[in-house]
Amino acid sequence: MPLVSTKEMFQKAYEGGYAIGAFNVNNMEIVQGITEAAKEENAPLILQVSAGARKYAKHIYLVKLVEAAIADTNLPIALHLDHGADFEICKSCIDGGFTSVMIDGSAHSFEDNIALTRKVVEYAHERGVVVEGELGKLAGIEDDVNVSAEDANFTNPAEVEEFVTRTGVDSLAIAIGTSHGAYKFKPGQKPQLRFDILEEVSRRLPGFPIVLHGASSVIQEDVAIVNQYGGKMPDAIGIPEEMLRKAATMAVCKINIDSDLRLAMTAAIRKYMAENPSHFDPRQYLTPARDHIRELVRHKIVDVLGCAGKA
Ligand code: G3H
Ligand code: 13P
Ligand code: ZN
Repeated sequence: MPLVSTKEMFQKAYEGGYAIGAFNVNNMEIVQGITEAAKEENAPLILQVSAGARKYAKHIYLVKLVEAAIADTNLPIALHLDHGADFEICKSCIDGGFTSVMIDGSAHSFEDNIALTRKVVEYAHERGVVVEGELGKLAGIEDDVNVSAEDANFTNPAEVEEFVTRTGVDSLAIAIGTSHGAYKFKPGQKPQLRFDILEEVSRRLPGFPIVLHGASSVIQEDVAIVNQYGGKMPDAIGIPEEMLRKAATMAVCKINIDSDLRLAMTAAIRKYMAENPSHFDPRQYLTPARDHIRELVRHKIVDVLGCAGKA
């Protein structure tokens, strides 16, 4: 099976009341852990690559790893650019074999966001590639951009029809209270998602796939393992999984998860290293890291996304 587009995936997810997991990949063990889980649960999958991932691993290695995963699992997998900042990076990924790109114009004015997104859509659609746009700005850290909570803003539902119509995007990321990174809410703070905004957006865009970024739950067991074995992660909580489950039954068709993967990998490696101080073969500590990612992704597929058996 070749790499697939997200078009059909999203249509089925919308109608079926579930979401597809979009997991960030940076190396072979992460690709394998995620795709092994999806294979076990027969789930469709989006593997996404950030600018930072391309810089770290090189575009060609990530494309070939994902192609290898498809050959290995025979699953429908889309390869997506996460947070494309400009036309050039989107073009490079479209030309370089991706089936989906995000152009993140959320830092620009409404008109500039539309113009930039439209330019990417025109280039992408001529080549059979789908495009995710973003309206509203999430707090948190992505690549070198750190958006403070004060600079973040919720999506204004009154703008979505015009944005989607004028740009021609295939899906839309909105800001309803999620944020990037592992420090979303302080303990004691009550996480809240603006389901009223999501409802109003989907009322205005019937049948249109919505994307949630910053959707890690900051798994507390993994934070505890990291800290038990020498880490110093501050206390923080993420997006409660029942809220993500609810969003997945609504118009949200794509849920982005990266920080939970990082945490799972780091927890497993720290634990292994602490318990086996004389080991120095990377395969020894990367094996439990990959296994832990697999179990995390299985849990997300079954209990959060609801996409088990939907491949
Ligand atoms: O939303 C951003 C993703 O977590 C990717 O992070 O840019 O550090 O690779 P990164
Ligand atoms: P998290 O940092 O919550 O995992 O969000 C990832 C993301 O939105 C990638 O685009
Ligand atoms: Zn994101």
